[in-house]
Amino acid sequence: MNFQTDNTEINSLSKSEKYIAILPFIQGIWEAEKNLVANLGNTAAVLKQYFQWWWVGFYVVENSELVLGPFQGPVACTRIAKGKGVCGAAWEKEETIVVKNVHEFPGHIACSDASNSEIVVPVFLNNKVVAVLDADSEHLAHFDEIDAAGLKKIADLMGRLWYQK
Ligand code: SME
Repeated sequence: MNFQTDNTEINSLSKSEKYIAILPFIQGIWEAEKNLVANLGNTAAVLKQYFQWWWVGFYVVENSELVLGPFQGPVACTRIAKGKGVCGAAWEKEETIVVKNVHEFPGHIACSDASNSEIVVPVFLNNKVVAVLDADSEHLAHFDEIDAAGLKKIADLMGRLWYQK
C-alpha cells in the first residue's frame, strides 16, 4: 500500500475529493489484513491525516454497550450504553447522526470539553450494528451531508470486510 503522506497535497483537496481519495486506501487496509484492531487503527489514522479532526475513532458493540476501539485524539470515555449520547443514539436508531452543536444535543457525552460538533455513523454487518465511527470537531457545525455520505461509504466498506465478528 502506498499512502499519501504529503500534507500540503492533502490540504489542497476539497472535502469531497478527500473522501474519493481515501476510499481505495481504506479498502486496501481492510483487504490486506483480517485483524480488526489493526484495521480500525489504520482507518482512524487515515481519517485523522486527511481531515485533522479533533477526535476520530470507533466504538465497537459488546453485548449491551459500545466499547472504545482504536482512535486518534485525546483520551475518551470507554463504555457507552445503547441509546446514550450521540454514539448510543446512532446505534439505537441505526442511522447516522450529525450534531451541529453538541451542547444542544440532549444526553451528549462530553469526553472532551473542546468538542463542539460531532458525526456518528453506524457500521452494519448482516444488518446489525457492530460498531460506530465517531468524529468530533472543535468547530461548531463542522460536519455536513458530504461527511455523512463519505463516512457512510467507508462504514459500508468496513461492514463488507468485517471478517472477525
Ligand atoms: N460524544 C460522544 C462520546 C464519545 S466521544 O465524543 C469520543 C457521545 O455523545 O456519544
